[in-house]
Amino acid sequence: MTKVRIGVLGAGRGVALAKAMSLAPSAALAAICDADEKRLAAAAGIVSKTYRRYEDMLEAPDIDAVLVASPMPLHAQHSAAALKAGKHVLSEVTAATSLEQCYELLEAVKASGRKYMLAENYCYYRPWMIVMGMVRAGLFGEVYYGESDQIQDFKGGLSHPDTGYNWRTAELAMRRGHQYITHNLGPLYQAMGNERIKTVVCLGSGQHHLPWAKADDTCIVLGQTSSGKLVRIRLDFFSTRPNNYTYSGLQGTSACYEGPRGLKDEHKIHVKGQTPPGTWQSLEELATYLPPAWKALPADKAGSYDGGSALMIEDFARAILDNTRPPIDVIDALNMTAPGLMSEVSAERGGAPVDVPEFK
Ligand SMILES: NC(=O)c1ccc[n+]([C@@H]2O[C@H](COP(=O)([O-])OP(=O)(O)OC[C@H]3O[C@@H](n4cnc5c(N)ncnc54)[C@H](O)[C@@H]3O)[C@@H](O)[C@H]2O)c1
Repeated sequence: MTKVRIGVLGAGRGVALAKAMSLAPSAALAAICDADEKRLAAAAGIVSKTYRRYEDMLEAPDIDAVLVASPMPLHAQHSAAALKAGKHVLSEVTAATSLEQCYELLEAVKASGRKYMLAENYCYYRPWMIVMGMVRAGLFGEVYYGESDQIQDFKGGLSHPDTGYNWRTAELAMRRGHQYITHNLGPLYQAMGNERIKTVVCLGSGQHHLPWAKADDTCIVLGQTSSGKLVRIRLDFFSTRPNNYTYSGLQGTSACYEGPRGLKDEHKIHVKGQTPPGTWQSLEELATYLPPAWKALPADKAGSYDGGSALMIEDFARAILDNTRPPIDVIDALNMTAPGLMSEVSAERGGAPVDVPEFK
């Protein structure tokens, strides 16, 4: 096998990732599946083979792997079905929406012997890849604190529950805590050497915008890793304000990084012994820490927010072809997902500390 042939489930977000496959040398788009005929017809322009039934795509012998881009609460079940059918899985975020699903997914991966990777594209965000290049080169020393914000005025996209089932409403408006935490936690988890969050605390502000919603406008999740490293994450899908869903910050013993907060702010870094004391320098000055694969991306993709998706798909395909551990394997995926599930429990208990299960 020289290329991994990937079938995509879900013709919404799945189409963006299907297009990114053309920039991943070890991957090939084989088919797209969606139960929605209109969506499937719109996606037919980018691939000749389409399926309406997922079961039919899973039976196809010319498909090696499935990209699961169905609604969030179906990821674990759709991933398990693909693994049982002998396909490798690249799953959209999050990995699961309940602890039961976490354990079912883990068992399915173990039983299958196939590769599973979480498609956490925020780990492949260009500025973050510079930061991670610096972390891996030792410039940060020991990383002991990280923070991240998911501030995205999304209330217009959350329909009232009485108008029918909508998975976004069910998961993001009717549950407390941070159910979409992998975008924020995933990159910090990697910078902390894949150290899992052991305890979470979550407090919310109440709901001031959608009277029927159960989620807080804003909630803050604090997490502590097994060795005592600290993360702070803010989720806000409701406030009327400018978005900032890519902000993160990282503190180590010898460097710190902060993303932009808006109004001409930029990605900035301070490196002990290199940046004048008490000042910042632009992160761009350290772009040499980007992985070489970035240089192969076309200029319009390399600069875009989602430009790293092709690198993420390539990492998945290489893990299959080389039979190596995917960079975000099932244990990592659950370590990125479960703290969000447990943040709901903490919020319901008024901010009490809650243990996060360890997945082995
Ligand atoms: N990483 C990112 O930046 C990012 C961005 C957007 C969405 N997402 C994630 O991607 C996932 C999909 O998001 P979306 O906006 O495309 O959702 P969506 O609800 O618009 O689309 C999901 C599609 O899956 C199809 N589907 C569901 N079950 C199916 C089945 N059994 N067989 C065939 N088709 C089936 C539906 O018909 C639908 O068209 C979500 O989990 C979302 O959180 C991630």
